[in-house]
Amino acid sequence: MSWLLLLMFAADQPLPFSHKTHTDTALLKCAECHTMPAPGEQATIPETKKCMSCHIAVKKDSPHIQKLTEFHTAKKAVPWIRVYQIPGFVFFSHKLHTDAGAKCETCHGPVAERDVLKKEVETNMGACMSCHAKNKASNDCSTCHEKLN
Ligand code: HEC
Ligand code: HEC
Ligand code: HEC
Ligand code: HEC
Ligand code: HEC
Repeated sequence: MSWLLLLMFAADQPLPFSHKTHTDTALLKCAECHTMPAPGEQATIPETKKCMSCHIAVKKDSPHIQKLTEFHTAKKAVPWIRVYQIPGFVFFSHKLHTDAGAKCETCHGPVAERDVLKKEVETNMGACMSCHAKNKASNDCSTCHEKLN
């Protein structure tokens, strides 16, 4: 039973991408991969072009890197399974929060230490509102939702 639950809850990514390897060994900063194009709402997932800047040479004999190269050559995005996602009817902006001093780790946990990312910090309405209350940010319904009449 427990292995079944694990299979259900640990996102089975198409490639064994490790944040720890890429921040510790490859010494990349979050922003080098997660660029936030204006207006900065999205943190974005990098395109294969970014990966191939190294993997054209690094570990090119690995079957995983060969799979990555196939996506790249076919001009297909890697079908990553999303870890943090909120419904489309909620307003959220990365730039606004990082400008206000929030760190990636506050909302996503110690990503740089993880080989496999899992959702380890809540991003539900209660979590948003409790941080807003602590920081004296607005908790009007219309802050995060279209006007509900
Ligand atoms: C700055 C260079 C660099 C970039 C950019 C980069 N990687 Fe890597 N990657 C590495 C290094 C270094 C390793 C560890 C190689 C080793 O174990 O010897 C690695 C390892 C990997 C591995 C494990 C390969 C294996 O079989 O052991 C995967 C999968 C991988 N990277 C995927 C990606 C993906 C996907 C991207 C783009 C989102 C990416 N990498 C971007 C440098 C990079
Ligand atoms: C080499 C490029 C690269 C670097 C550097 C990198 N990431 Fe990522 N990140 C990815 C890729 C590829 C994914 C999708 C695969 C996954 O979820 O593990 C991802 C996924 C994520 C996600 C989950 C997004 C979602 O909702 O599915 C978060 C959160 C994240 N990264 C935060 C960070 C933080 C914080 C840092 C810096 C400590 C960082 N990343 C550094 C490439 C990178
Ligand atoms: C205040 C909380 C908060 C902070 C701070 C934060 N994030 Fe996020 N992040 C979220 C939420 C909520 C989502 C889901 C957004 C959605 O579904 O539209 C998300 C989604 C993501 C994604 C998936 C792609 C996307 O844009 O939806 C990545 C990658 C990511 N965050 C990386 C980062 C990085 C890197 C940092 C630091 C520079 C960071 N986040 C800081 C809350 C946060
Ligand atoms: C780490 C604490 C923290 C968390 C967690 C957080 N917020 Fe915020 N949020 C803030 C702060 C502080 C501001 C005020 C920023 C400013 O006014 O410069 C803010 C502002 C906002 C705004 C803009 C308000 C305006 O006046 O325009 C929206 C929308 C928002 N947050 C949505 C969310 C959502 C949705 C979530 C949950 C997914 C969330 N926030 C989680 C701290 C947080
Ligand atoms: C700081 C941001 C924020 C504020 C303020 C906020 N919400 Fe939400 N709300 C969210 C987020 C995030 C979700 C999505 C939670 C999820 O599905 O993970 C949500 C979901 C909802 C839902 C859907 C519930 C469900 O079970 O799917 C309703 C209805 C809702 N909010 C109503 C309100 C009302 C009414 C107010 C004012 C009292 C309000 N919200 C204030 C962030 C906020």
